[in-house]
Formats: sequence, C-alpha cells, structure tokens
Amino acid sequence: MTGIVVFVDSRGGNTRKIAEVIAAEAGTAVGDITDSLPDTAKLVFLGSGTYGGAPGIGMMKFVTDNDFSGRNVAVFGTSMSPGGAQKMVAAMVDALKRKGATVLGTFDCRGKFLLFRRGHPDETDLGNARAFARDMISKH
Ligand SMILES: Cc1cc2nc3c(=O)[nH]c(=O)nc-3n(C[C@H](O)[C@H](O)[C@H](O)COP(=O)(O)O)c2cc1C
Repeated sequence: MTGIVVFVDSRGGNTRKIAEVIAAEAGTAVGDITDSLPDTAKLVFLGSGTYGGAPGIGMMKFVTDNDFSGRNVAVFGTSMSPGGAQKMVAAMVDALKRKGATVLGTFDCRGKFLLFRRGHPDETDLGNARAFARDMISKH
C-alpha cells in the first residue's frame, strides 16, 4: 500500500516487534527515524517504548523535526505498566496535534522489562496490533 509509513523508537526491541507486524499488514518496511518523513506519507504509524514515563528522545525529535499537517497519524507504544504507555502515547498525541496531525487512533500493550512482563509482546499482543493496523488503514 502506498503512502503508509511506519517509524519506531525501540531501545530493547519490544516496540519494534509491534512495528514489524504493522508494517507487514501495510505491505511496507519499518523506516529509520533518523530519516525525514516522506512527502508522500498519508498515513503515518509512530511508535515508541516508554522510558521514565516518556517517549524515546529520537521519536520526539522526529515529531519536532517533521511537518505533520494534513497527515493521518496512528500512535502505538509499549511499557511495563499499562498506565505507563497510555501516558506516553498521550504525550505523543499532544505533540503531534501541535504539529498539525490528525490522530486516527492509538494502541498500547505491555513489553518485557527485566523480570517483569516476560514474554510480552506475545502472540495476543501481536494479533491486537495487527487488528489495530487494519482498522487504521481502513480509516485513513
Ligand atoms: C530506561 C527505561 C525506563 C523505563 N521506564 C518505564 C516507565 O516509566 N514506565 C513503564 O511502564 N515502563 C518503563 N520501562 C519499560 C519499557 O517501557 C518496556 O520494557 C518497553 O516495552 C520497552 O520498549 P522497547 O523494547 O521497544 O525499548 C522502562 C524501560 C527502560 C529501559
């Protein structure tokens, strides 16, 4: 599908797993957040892990450095605690709206951290991410 891009800030690989299933569903590859947002992007999936309650520094730089006006964005994230990613995703949504984005929806799930949430994201999480991707693609 053209016009769909996926970018992720993932230090440990958990959120990257989510990004990979979303990209597969969209028929694209996960982009590099040190690149610019392509002009042709109509639907932008953006994801991050939660680090000290916040999105990754690289993701926030990507949001600050690019123009999101007229673009649909879908935001996803992982965290050890449920509230962690919800707050982090809300911060990304706020920043994106300030940059002119239309936010279509959000998704979050747990990601393993040390001995906590082992095995996550698991098959159920990945299936939910796939459904999220399909829903966002149908809406854009
Ligand atoms: C430095 C650091 C800080 C973290 N801070 C939080 C936090 O504030 N709240 C939370 O729920 N999880 C926190 N976590 C857990 C991660 O958000 C979780 O493991 C997430 O899945 C990491 O995603 P990633 O593997 O894509 O980097 C932290 C993890 C690291 C490494």
